[in-house]
Amino acid sequence: MNTKPVKINKELCIGCGKCVKDCVSEKLKIVDGKAQFMYERCIECGHCYAICPTGAVTMPGYTTEDRPVVDMTEFDSDRLLEAMKSRRTIRQFTDEKVSDEDIAKIIEAGRYCPTATNSQDFAFTVIKNSLPEFEKECVRFFRTAQKAATPLAKYIKNSTIDDNFFFKGAPVVIVVSGKSKGNANLASSYMELMAESLGLGVLYSGFFVAVAKLNRKVGKMLKPEKGYAPMTCLVIGHPAVEYKRIPPRKDAKINVI
Ligand SMILES: Cc1cc2nc3c(=O)[nH]c(=O)nc-3n(C[C@H](O)[C@H](O)[C@H](O)COP(=O)(O)O)c2cc1C
Repeated sequence: MNTKPVKINKELCIGCGKCVKDCVSEKLKIVDGKAQFMYERCIECGHCYAICPTGAVTMPGYTTEDRPVVDMTEFDSDRLLEAMKSRRTIRQFTDEKVSDEDIAKIIEAGRYCPTATNSQDFAFTVIKNSLPEFEKECVRFFRTAQKAATPLAKYIKNSTIDDNFFFKGAPVVIVVSGKSKGNANLASSYMELMAESLGLGVLYSGFFVAVAKLNRKVGKMLKPEKGYAPMTCLVIGHPAVEYKRIPPRKDAKINVI
């Protein structure tokens, strides 16, 4: 049974039309001085909910946030840019565990990234207890692949595949699976920055994603949602290294037209 994703409380609605103007799907109109929701191809982005000055809009199928909206200009932009430049890939971790609260916060950051048509088409697999099994199978696969005549072999030909090649002894890994690489990448980027702000370090493991796609056993061990494929892998732990300076980057290629 389809229920309307958006409800308008006519008592509270003042007919200002802000929701109508901001609706990307053009699913709202003013009828007799009140907003009215037209149920058809709504992407459920919640802009009508967010913009309503009187709280007349509800979205019954969703849990709502009780925190106020943050003005992003509160964050000093120069400092924010420096922080972004200071982010580094971490490949050396301490033995310290990552708390469940921190894992939840990292996933929460991913959940709130923008997604095309608000599809939110990703899922998060947290690997903790079964990390040794994953590591063992991935290492076995790569050592075998290294000797084979495949494109992957060329790529890893000169790599030393030690027993911690994939996860570097980190205590937790989050695999983002989904339908769209773009959306999963955005979620992962939000997650990485959140992890850094919690004092954690992150390694994106493209190698693990390659194994998860090529090796059926690893793919199955991830217990994926139907129709979802692994898109990114974030290896997370407490950094055992400290960087003293920001490394150089290529100049941005900018074309103003
Ligand atoms: C999608 C993606 C996949 C990556 N895969 C790996 C990987 O499998 N192994 C690894 O050591 N680093 C991996 N990296 C890390 C990059 O090599 C790293 O970002 C780059 O060297 C720049 O260093 P920085 O992140 O500290 O600025 C990956 C990064 C991205 C964005």
